[in-house]
Amino acid sequence: MVLKLPKSIGLSQHSAHHYRGKVSLLNHQQNKESQDVSLKKQFDVEEVRKDFPILKRKVHGSPLVYLDSGASAQKPKSVIDTVSRYYSEQHANIHRGVHHLSQEATQAYEEAREVIRGYINAKHSHEVLFTKGTTDGINLVASSFGRKFINEGDEVIVSTLEHHSNIVPWQMICEEKGASLKVIPINQAGELNMEEFKSLLNDRTRLVSVTHVSNSLGTINPVEEMIELSHAKNVPVLLDGAQAVPHKHVDMQALDVDFYVFSGHKLFGPTGVGVLYGKEDLLNQMPPYQGGGDMIEKVTFEKTTYNSLPHKFEAGTPNIVGGIGLGAAVVYFDQFDEKQILDHEQDILAYATDQLSQIEGVKFIGTATEKASVVSFLLEGSHPFDVGTLLDQQGIAVRTGHHCTQPLMDFYGIPGTVRASFAIYNNRADVDALVAGVKRAANMLL
Ligand code: ALA
Repeated sequence: MVLKLPKSIGLSQHSAHHYRGKVSLLNHQQNKESQDVSLKKQFDVEEVRKDFPILKRKVHGSPLVYLDSGASAQKPKSVIDTVSRYYSEQHANIHRGVHHLSQEATQAYEEAREVIRGYINAKHSHEVLFTKGTTDGINLVASSFGRKFINEGDEVIVSTLEHHSNIVPWQMICEEKGASLKVIPINQAGELNMEEFKSLLNDRTRLVSVTHVSNSLGTINPVEEMIELSHAKNVPVLLDGAQAVPHKHVDMQALDVDFYVFSGHKLFGPTGVGVLYGKEDLLNQMPPYQGGGDMIEKVTFEKTTYNSLPHKFEAGTPNIVGGIGLGAAVVYFDQFDEKQILDHEQDILAYATDQLSQIEGVKFIGTATEKASVVSFLLEGSHPFDVGTLLDQQGIAVRTGHHCTQPLMDFYGIPGTVRASFAIYNNRADVDALVAGVKRAANMLL
């Protein structure tokens, strides 16, 4: 088989090697057994850390300990170089120009789409829509799918675990259409009550929209089972994958999910770009979300006809460098064996849970059996904001507060938590720094 290495994506030499591997994997997509796993690079966290320049910096005089990847992940050099090279050598508007640069930029952007398609195993690249991010993707579906398919008396199901971005867009369309929002309850561990979910599914349900992984607690939801149960009632499913894709591969065809959304910046890519995967058939039935350039076929003052997928949903000049940078981020992440990443992150999670549990006053919020590498906790007798501020003074970045999940915090009757969210570049030394930092905070606050 002849490997075709796209020239225009502007990857650094280092990642171009892996891109070649990726193309090979894509070409083998039909026959997964034949994938050559030797193409995957051995995962070594200390080597990975060298790929992320920001990890060398200091904050308030201490080495940065970055434990806020759930909010936004740091960027490997290959992504930074791709973005820089794009602006230095390739930038022009896409899908518009006859000139060389425009064509080169268009090719790079579309190649990035194809890389992402292969990575998430979507059937067609036109099912991969570029968005501004997860929030934008959910709003697109709520607005477009909602306008077409949600009517008075209908119901949309979400869960108690949802981020505001997977609650508010549905509230808005439900209010507009006279439909109602139904909420899957959880137990104290932060796991969905599946019996309640089954009883919520009914003839009026138009869509189930749930998170794949909880941003606040790390709970991994049983999405395969939820999709199966929903499809048995002919109900489509949207998954918010923002917190899932930075940790594991997702396979659109294996999941048989109808919509899947995620953000580039949490997957080691640039900010302001994301992906909405949608099944071709559904996307074709949905009206455009926004009107403007690129999404049209023919415009007259009397009538406008629309472009085909994916352009129908991509009005205006997109975040070109964002898409290309996200392609480079996917190439970077996909160079590692998924199991090795999962094993590493589970080791960090178990170590952090064990070490923090030995500190008096630490109370975990979210103790699901299936968890991604997120630890949410309280230091009893102190406010999460104070703990976060004291950690920051030691160079340790965590997120504090409600994490855009106020209804979830209300369920626990708390204003918020301290959240440490780990990524591929975090090591046990980061956990040790966190534990020492929390101990110091406890000494000062309690
Ligand atoms: N949704 C992001 C987080 O969980 C911002 O922090």
